[in-house]
Amino acid sequence: MPLLQDIRLPSEDPHAGIAVSEFFDVHPVATFAINTAHVITHWNKACEHLLGWSKAEMVGTTNHWQAFYTRQRPLLADLIISGAEEEIGVYYQGKHIRSPLIEGGFEAEDFFPNIGARGHWLHFTAAPLRDQDGQVVGAIETLRDVTERRVAENALRQAHDNLEHLVAKRTAQLAEVNARLEHDIEQRERADAELRRRNLELTELNEQLSMTQQQLVQADKLASIGQLAAGVAHEINNPIGYIFSNVGTLQNYLDLLFGMLAAYEEAEPAIGDPLVAQRLRAMREQIDLGFLLEDIPSLMAESKEGIVRVRHIVQDLKDFSRVDANQEWVWANIHRGIDSTLNIVSNEVKYKADVFKEYGELPDIECLPLQINQVVMNLVVNAAHAIGPERGSITIRTGCVDADMIWIEVQDSGSGIAPEALSRIFDPFFTTKAVGKGTGLGLSLAYGIVQKHRGRIEVDTQLGQGTRFRVWLPTHHPDPDTEQEGQP
Ligand SMILES: Nc1ncnc2c1ncn2[C@@H]1O[C@H](COP(=O)(O)OP(=O)(O)O)[C@@H](O)[C@H]1O
Ligand SMILES: [Mg+2]
Repeated sequence: MPLLQDIRLPSEDPHAGIAVSEFFDVHPVATFAINTAHVITHWNKACEHLLGWSKAEMVGTTNHWQAFYTRQRPLLADLIISGAEEEIGVYYQGKHIRSPLIEGGFEAEDFFPNIGARGHWLHFTAAPLRDQDGQVVGAIETLRDVTERRVAENALRQAHDNLEHLVAKRTAQLAEVNARLEHDIEQRERADAELRRRNLELTELNEQLSMTQQQLVQADKLASIGQLAAGVAHEINNPIGYIFSNVGTLQNYLDLLFGMLAAYEEAEPAIGDPLVAQRLRAMREQIDLGFLLEDIPSLMAESKEGIVRVRHIVQDLKDFSRVDANQEWVWANIHRGIDSTLNIVSNEVKYKADVFKEYGELPDIECLPLQINQVVMNLVVNAAHAIGPERGSITIRTGCVDADMIWIEVQDSGSGIAPEALSRIFDPFFTTKAVGKGTGLGLSLAYGIVQKHRGRIEVDTQLGQGTRFRVWLPTHHPDPDTEQEGQP
């Protein structure tokens, strides 16, 4: 830029006496100057080149606006001459700043669509021209083409915007993928949990199934054994009855006969015929009458005992098959039943164990009380049998979970049950006891009774520690029809 004080001031005559016009002309920055009447005094080559308007066309006119706009309006240089700063604001609307270098000067940058084929970005600076007294005599405006910079900036901004857009897009895509993944994971976890739940259900169901199956097998066995037992008991009962009574009668007859025989023996010396006496003696020796007289009564006693035993077994079988089950379903107090049962078995128990009672609160239940007593008795007797030579304990507990179910527990400190025996203890005739001590019917009988009550038996045992049987019974008799079950 030429220093402004070097420039000779534009005169009223635009063509006269401007010493620096050559300097203007060759200066590479597009520059023009106007006087206070807004008439162009200078229009250099660079200006011609940039704006497409020649010096000849412009100097001496006030048409400089034409180089920039389609409609007439003041340029920055014009506004500086008018000296109305607020007007600059009106026309340039914040695109301008006060020049940091030239006092009273302004700078602005704007796009001019009419310059050149595609328009140009110009950075222009306008400053007042003053005479030696400081009087404003005109204004000078320089124009720099900043199109390339602006284009580059725009391109950069665009690229930046694009990049940001891309980043935003990618971020959104990533977020979406992430959300999908999270959703997937959540679904998979849910499916997993569902699978686990189903698996658990299946396992449970399986367990129930195998338990039910076991119970069915047990019930089946019981039913057929029960039938057999009922048949056998029924068939044997009558003959045993009359054999038992006949043996009694026979015993009486034999006593009479033996008396008679003794009388004959006494009368023997009185027999006159020595031949007859001789024959009698020989016969007596031959049949060993002395031995017979001794042996017959013991034979009779043994037979009688045998028949008593058979009657006992038949009674057990009848119990087992519930041939005599003509009891009635009644509401009964379980504790009273247990107490009376304990009294009955006290002889069996009192030398082997201390009995503890831990009764809970129980409602009366609808049941066959004698049969429930039978169950308790079998469990208590088994408990006593399981206790070895050392004194042990038997604990009887009761309780209920709700109004529908009660339980009775018999726990002993006895031998426990070996695993291989555990699956068979409810089998009829399964016993581990010495011959004559156990029939193996106690638990299967208990099982049958509990089943008839629609209850169940649980066993918890530890070898060498003891066993706990728990009997669950519903408080209400579920089906009145079952009353007839098991009757002949
Ligand atoms: N409380 C118990 N402790 C240990 N074993 C028991 C107990 N209760 C039953 N058992 C076992 O179950 C078997 C079958 O019992 P049960 O049917 O009453 O017949 P029994 O008592 O005539 O042997 C018994 O022989 C015994 O091995
Ligand atoms: Mg028994």
